[in-house]
Amino acid sequence: MGDDASELDSVALDFDERAAKLALFRAFRECFLQQSAEPVLLALNPDDVLNLLPSARARSRVSLSRVSKPTSYSRTLKYPGILQRALRSGHYVVIGNRRTPNMTKYRRVVVSRYGGPEVLEVVEDALPEPQRGEVRVKILAAGVSFADVLMREGVHPETARPPFSLGWELVGVVEKLGPGVSGHRPGDRVTALSVRGSYAEYLCVTAGDLVPVPIGLDPVEVACMAFIHLTAYQMMHRAVRVNAGDRVLIHSAGGPVGAALLQLGALFELEMYGTASQRKHDLVSRLRGTPIDYKAVDFVDEILRLTGDGVDVVFDGIGGNHILRSYKALRRKGAVVAFGHATSLIRDGRLAGGRRSRVRGLPTLAGQILRSRLIPDGRKVVPYSIQMLKRRHSDWYREDMTALFALLSGGKLSPIIAKRLGLDEAVRAHELLVEGSLMGRIMLVMG
Ligand SMILES: NC(=O)c1ccc[n+]([C@@H]2O[C@H](COP(=O)([O-])OP(=O)(O)OC[C@H]3O[C@@H](n4cnc5c(N)ncnc54)[C@H](OP(=O)(O)O)[C@@H]3O)[C@@H](O)[C@H]2O)c1
Repeated sequence: MGDDASELDSVALDFDERAAKLALFRAFRECFLQQSAEPVLLALNPDDVLNLLPSARARSRVSLSRVSKPTSYSRTLKYPGILQRALRSGHYVVIGNRRTPNMTKYRRVVVSRYGGPEVLEVVEDALPEPQRGEVRVKILAAGVSFADVLMREGVHPETARPPFSLGWELVGVVEKLGPGVSGHRPGDRVTALSVRGSYAEYLCVTAGDLVPVPIGLDPVEVACMAFIHLTAYQMMHRAVRVNAGDRVLIHSAGGPVGAALLQLGALFELEMYGTASQRKHDLVSRLRGTPIDYKAVDFVDEILRLTGDGVDVVFDGIGGNHILRSYKALRRKGAVVAFGHATSLIRDGRLAGGRRSRVRGLPTLAGQILRSRLIPDGRKVVPYSIQMLKRRHSDWYREDMTALFALLSGGKLSPIIAKRLGLDEAVRAHELLVEGSLMGRIMLVMG
């Protein structure tokens, strides 16, 4: 057996469903009885196998015909020739049994009340039934974002009344279709911009919001990218249209959205500057940006010193009066893309002070947009919101996500994952995120 196979055997045996373990045990015993020297991978659910395979090389060795047309365990044992044939062709064998686990409960993380990380609680609820037009998705991975922190604190415009679950994006497997749904099949790998609810084992999602994920992509990498890189991509292509050679300033360039902007900006051959704390300067430089320590220098002065006449675009996720300063760093015909309004409200994971408000910062932003229109100096402030754009242009959402899949499968993008944690570790995930020392995203990996 090769290295891949021994790795795979152990991951496959990690399934905790008793029946799966029993089937695996029996199937392996059968293989040993037949004294097969070839690698064999056996599992109950072919999709689980695809999710668990550690590398593209391993995935390419899975017998995909068996994934799409599963052979029952008993049939394989009854007709060992099936097993033998697959073994001879050098494939792993996936014994498929799409039986849904006998499970009526699921776990999710809820914000029990607005506040710090300690308000996150893991609860067990009855498994929701998909309603008309909905699909129940078994979630494989979801990201932890700064926007979640703002929602947890009750200061984000998209937050809900507690108790509610966080989670802007998900990658999962279609598990059950609600009435009236066509175009999806159980077992399909999908992604969705959930905005809320993906810190969970399952979520019912409107069928039209699901985008199919190509086979072979790592679900955790796709989830890492689905919200953050989409935000970056759309700001560069939909909010404004950047061209090769354009000069841009990216605030919070060492954070997830900032790093995604740098990664895409390098592909589009932009000249890039990024504000970040000193500790993130290596990352910014590695991603081909010129770092600016916003705590040590005035970034407007520094940009003018470095460039002479300013930049074409500033990506400002800091918000508030910060947008006005970003405006001053623009050259003629430049634009500030304003996409975050509340980062400055958070200090050490807590609300910096004052009353919680879902719309705090929005009047300032509106004022600045208006002001840039009233004083025509060839420069402008352009607001961007991923969920508002998706509501207006769901076709763009699909198109842009598909463009990102192509970059990911072509090896042109590699999402930066700092940590993979389980649902039970959501509190720690939020503490780590706000502490701000991690380079890359924290991902929740389910199952
Ligand atoms: N509009 C949309 O559709 C959309 C979509 C996604 C995200 N967002 C927003 O985008 C923003 C960034 O998201 P993110 O997840 O990538 O978070 P993030 O960059 O990790 O945000 C926190 C970081 O911002 C940096 N920061 C704080 N004040 C700063 C300042 N004055 N100048 C420069 N950097 C500063 C700090 O990094 P240092 O360690 O470098 O100090 C801090 O760790 C958030 O406000 C989020 O809500 C909006």
